[in-house]
Amino acid sequence: MDIEKNKKILIIGASGDLGFDLLKGLSDSAVTIGVHCFHNKSRLEKFIEKPHAAKIKIFSGDVSSQGSSQKIIDAFVKWAGGIDHLIQLSGAVQKPEDWKTLTQEQWDRDIAVNLTGPYFLAQQAMNHMLKHGGKVIFTSTASAAHGGGGNSMAYGAAKAGIECITKGLARQGAPYNILVNAVAPGFIMTKFHADQMKRTREDLKKRGDLVPLKRAGEAKDVTGIITYLLSKSGDFVTGQVIAVSGGDWL
Ligand SMILES: NC(=O)c1ccc[n+]([C@@H]2O[C@H](COP(=O)([O-])OP(=O)(O)OC[C@H]3O[C@@H](n4cnc5c(N)ncnc54)[C@H](OP(=O)(O)O)[C@@H]3O)[C@@H](O)[C@H]2O)c1
Repeated sequence: MDIEKNKKILIIGASGDLGFDLLKGLSDSAVTIGVHCFHNKSRLEKFIEKPHAAKIKIFSGDVSSQGSSQKIIDAFVKWAGGIDHLIQLSGAVQKPEDWKTLTQEQWDRDIAVNLTGPYFLAQQAMNHMLKHGGKVIFTSTASAAHGGGGNSMAYGAAKAGIECITKGLARQGAPYNILVNAVAPGFIMTKFHADQMKRTREDLKKRGDLVPLKRAGEAKDVTGIITYLLSKSGDFVTGQVIAVSGGDWL
């Protein structure tokens, strides 16, 4: 799928498995890419050591507040000379915790990382896009539409909030040709499950078997949809939450 030349693209969470797969795909195009990480800078450093058609620079930081989001957008815009597309692929569950014992500190952190930070990223980016249009792509989770998980209630609630702001910001952005959409991955085999949700290999196998298409998704299943939304083919799509879940919950 062709991405228009010279676009200025910021990928938040490029150090994660989904973000990194998107980066690999976009790096062959003549575009400018800001790649964001939180802790895992070395993954991105190793990647940008090699030659790429795209011009790429790393931006790092926690994304969980208006201030931290603004800093990243400001730094990217200063370096790239503007912003055309923002893709938010960051996300975390601070610690999987049963809903009966979840603390407010855990609740607040998961809402901050998964909803507050992404909202202010989009707000700041869209303020720049008002002049020329652009695209924002958020990441929800397919489970948000079904009540989330018992040990990730705040994460699920934050992602449901992402689906709300996807529609709200799409309506606000439309007069300026700013398109806002979200992807909602189902069970995709990335380090998210082992590292953050503490799932064992056996858990992962069982979960994959529950998917109607009888497999876990791969990163490219999700990034293919993101690339489509970024391309000219996606120019009449806005306000949508696109589930990529192999038929989960059908
Ligand atoms: N994999 C799935 O099955 C699945 C399902 C539903 C939704 N999703 C969503 O898809 C997106 C990508 O997930 P993934 O599978 O690629 O997970 P991943 O490999 O664990 O990547 C998560 C990304 O989020 C970044 N991050 C974590 N906490 C952050 C914070 N406080 N501030 C800024 N960045 C932070 C990480 O940065 P560092 O690594 O640099 O610390 C990493 O780049 C997330 O929004 C996730 O919720 C995934």
